[in-house]
Amino acid sequence: MGLFLKMPRKGVISPACITFSLAMLLELNLKTRSLNPCLEVIPGHSYRCMQLNLTRVPSGIPNTIQTLDLSFNPLKILSSSYFSSVFALRFLDLTRCHLWKIEDHAFVGLNNLSVLILTGNPLQILGPKAFHNLPSLQRLIAVETDLSSLDSLPIGHLTSLQELNLSHNHIASLKLPVYFSYLIFLQHLSFQLNKITSISVGDLDTLSSQNLTLVLSRNDIKYIELNAFAGVHLQQLFLRSCFENSIVMQASIRNMSGLHVNSLVLGEYRNIHRLESFSESLLDGLCNLHLQEITLIEIHSLHTLSNLSSCINNVSMVRMVHSCISEDSYFPANSNIYQLEYKDCNWEEVPAEKLSSLKKLKVLRITHNKHLRGFEVYFTDLLNLEVLDISVNRLTTYLSWVSLLEGAPNLKHLNLSFNSEIRLNIECSGPAKLEYLDLQHTRLLLPGTVPSFFCLNNLIYLDISYTGTEVIAEGSFCGLDNLRVLKMSGNLFANNQLVDNFRNLTKLHFLDISNCQLSHISLSSLASLQELRLLNISRNKLLGLHPETYVHIPVLTTLDFHNNQLAALMEESLKNLPASLKNLDLSENLFYCSCEHLSFLQWAKKSSALLQNVKNMVCHSPVHLKNVQLLDFDLASCKISITTVVISCSAILVLIIILILGYKYYFYLYYMVVLFIGDRVSDEKETVYDAFVIFSSKDQEWVKQELQEPLEEEVPYFRLCLFYRDFIPGVSIITNIIKEGFQTSRKVIAVVSNHFLESRWCNFELEVAQSWQLVESKASLILVVLEGVDKTVLHRRLGLFRYLRRNTFLMWKDRDINRHVFLRQLRSALLEGKTWTEEELSLVFKK
Ligand SMILES: *[C@@H]1O[C@H](CO)[C@@H](O)[C@H](O)[C@H]1NC(C)=O
Ligand SMILES: *[C@@H]1O[C@H](CO)[C@@H](O)[C@H](O)[C@H]1NC(C)=O
Ligand SMILES: *[C@@H]1O[C@H](CO)[C@@H](O)[C@H](O)[C@H]1NC(C)=O
Ligand SMILES: *[C@@H]1O[C@H](CO)[C@@H](O)[C@H](O)[C@H]1NC(C)=O
Ligand SMILES: *[C@@H]1O[C@H](CO)[C@@H](O)[C@H](O)[C@H]1NC(C)=O
Ligand SMILES: *[C@@H]1O[C@H](CO)[C@@H](O)[C@H](O)[C@H]1NC(C)=O
Ligand SMILES: *[C@@H]1O[C@H](CO)[C@@H](O)[C@H](O)[C@H]1NC(C)=O
Ligand SMILES: *[C@@H]1O[C@H](CO)[C@@H](O)[C@H](O)[C@H]1NC(C)=O
Repeated sequence: MGLFLKMPRKGVISPACITFSLAMLLELNLKTRSLNPCLEVIPGHSYRCMQLNLTRVPSGIPNTIQTLDLSFNPLKILSSSYFSSVFALRFLDLTRCHLWKIEDHAFVGLNNLSVLILTGNPLQILGPKAFHNLPSLQRLIAVETDLSSLDSLPIGHLTSLQELNLSHNHIASLKLPVYFSYLIFLQHLSFQLNKITSISVGDLDTLSSQNLTLVLSRNDIKYIELNAFAGVHLQQLFLRSCFENSIVMQASIRNMSGLHVNSLVLGEYRNIHRLESFSESLLDGLCNLHLQEITLIEIHSLHTLSNLSSCINNVSMVRMVHSCISEDSYFPANSNIYQLEYKDCNWEEVPAEKLSSLKKLKVLRITHNKHLRGFEVYFTDLLNLEVLDISVNRLTTYLSWVSLLEGAPNLKHLNLSFNSEIRLNIECSGPAKLEYLDLQHTRLLLPGTVPSFFCLNNLIYLDISYTGTEVIAEGSFCGLDNLRVLKMSGNLFANNQLVDNFRNLTKLHFLDISNCQLSHISLSSLASLQELRLLNISRNKLLGLHPETYVHIPVLTTLDFHNNQLAALMEESLKNLPASLKNLDLSENLFYCSCEHLSFLQWAKKSSALLQNVKNMVCHSPVHLKNVQLLDFDLASCKISITTVVISCSAILVLIIILILGYKYYFYLYYMVVLFIGDRVSDEKETVYDAFVIFSSKDQEWVKQELQEPLEEEVPYFRLCLFYRDFIPGVSIITNIIKEGFQTSRKVIAVVSNHFLESRWCNFELEVAQSWQLVESKASLILVVLEGVDKTVLHRRLGLFRYLRRNTFLMWKDRDINRHVFLRQLRSALLEGKTWTEEELSLVFKK
């Protein structure tokens, strides 16, 4: 009820408040807008002021921000203390700001600046102290800045520098200035697309970092002095599209002898091909380098070779991207290669036989081959092979575990995902060591209802998502006793039901059965998954989330139930949710937002820590709430309807009470009506009777003898209105009493006896008579009190006492003398105001 009283008051006040605060906000916004035209990406943290024709740092920007993008503004010159208003910056982007001059101390105060991007500025004048006061700078990107020499770049004291990107400039010499000896943390140094044509002994002498990635790609290198790299230690060296032909390349590699580099990337770009003819000795120079990994990329003519240089065989990891040698090529038996990757080759078959000579091979990846279909011949004696990745090809083949694992008995990872079609047979040759098996998005032809994985007892990870598998048999996963991860979304279960399919997977931690068109989960189906932590059951057609199904999984922390057909959770279900649950995703279900599910809606509001993706929990029905966020559902509306219920209940109650009272005091009500109606119609009736006699029917005999006979048959004649004689049959008693009795009689005689006092009718008539007297002066009351009526009862029961003096009050006693006196008194009372009719007069005179 309090709600009702308060609400309107609130309603009156708040619109005014809202309007006021909105106006304030707008004004504030306008003010800050005019000062600061930038986009606030993360409030107080990150601003984007890109392409706003700014000529300086806008003044409205808070000095706490850490990220500022000023790119594409005509700043032109950075003068001293240019950024003093935004001293907390960590990231500053000055791409294409027409900067041609950076004065000394331009960045003063930016003690925390970590990234500075100067890309695309035609820098001409750099003050010798231009980059002073940047003690935290880790990345300096000066791509396309018209730099022609490293000496003109005053960065010697940027001792925190890790990455220096000088791509796309005019630098002609790799001669590193002395200051590089101070850049001890440098990890990335890019001279891509510069004008370096020759590299000489001593150029890299000042390099202090031993862990540098050096990018020299797209420099037209014509000359590398012998031993120019001798003693240099690099993490990675990129030499893509550096040589105009294979002869220069071969000679250059040879002259790089003595270089220690972990990973060398050699090759070209997809659309730049200058290396035409190829000789097998091309890479012979690599024998003089200390090298762990080599990547050959986009060297198209390589496939004409059947043998790469024997120097390759000393490298432990060889990666060939879009530059594969032919399928018929072979590797010598003593090769040291332990990791070999082929990506995007023009092969049609997995050259397992040829590759079987690589006895040290541990990791083999053959991926992204558009033509690779066959895998008929398996490896022989690859005892070290642990990882075989033949994913993202077009394999359409039959796979025999037995044969595959015979030649590679220690295989632990097998990735056959994203292929066309693989047929698997039921076969087993004893336990295999396979731990990871990925077959996702490859159409699997499994031999019907029989488990196909039962030999893989050591399997930990199995991904058969989107493989077109239909799980028919209950024990499909029998034998996978150690399986921890099972991903099988996008498949089918028989009858769209989950039954006892996972019975033996007692060690499972992760189960993904999303998108499997499931419409029913039997209660016991997950009961044996005692260690399950994550269950993804999203995108199915489940109508209910029955906690009984999940409550027996003691450690379940994540349950993804999004995109099903759940309408709500029942109160009982809410109580039974697994106690271990930390993430529950119920989004995109068909929620029915009604007060019927009040407890669920209340629970949802309280459980934001548990529920994921709450934004996507929207109502589906009723129609008027469709797409309303579940949390926006107005719980108060339910309270109001409760009050409505209370109100209507009380209304009914009141009505019932009124009816009961009405029934009890029916006479009094009627009497009121009568008073009202009687008053209006009384004029219409003529006086017919001298007196209306009200009496109890039990006193009828007395009335006949003592009233009717003496009054009507003796002179002077009176006409009495007696109900047993004068009331009109078929008309209600009440109407008779009013119309025939009171309205047509001059006087009312009440025969008060003990019977009279007990009768409700009589009491009623008497009361009407009394009131009548008040309204109409016409009929006056004559009370005839019979013998034996107790006076105290008379007073108490009728409350008449105060009227008795105003009315004629006669006592009747059954003695002759008394009877005579009584009649005389009665007659004189009746005669009062009597008008004689002709008929009566003639009767009188006849006698
Ligand atoms: C940029 O601002 C300058 C004045 O600061 C003005 O002359 C120029 O027209 C503006 N350019 C654009 C594209 O608004
Ligand atoms: C710079 O970073 C340090 C450590 O993160 C911080 O304590 C300090 O307040 C920052 N300085 C400025 C000017 O924001
Ligand atoms: C240097 O910048 C160029 C161009 O922005 C980019 O392609 C390259 O990856 C960068 N190099 C490094 C080492 O970050
Ligand atoms: C060497 O550089 C790589 C990145 O190129 C980095 O991940 C690694 O931690 C660095 N090692 C040392 C010892 O600095
Ligand atoms: C390699 O070094 C030799 C000996 O210094 C030199 O004659 C030759 O020109 C160099 N080749 C290239 C491509 O730099
Ligand atoms: C298998 O290969 C695919 C495609 O290359 C990759 O996305 C997936 O992560 C691999 N699976 C495993 C288990 O490494
Ligand atoms: C499955 O587990 C039950 C006991 O939980 C065991 O009796 C049965 O042999 C197992 N089946 C297979 C095929 O491992
Ligand atoms: C469940 O699987 C769906 C795809 O079917 C994916 O979008 C969702 O992120 C997964 N949920 C979890 C918790 O991994």
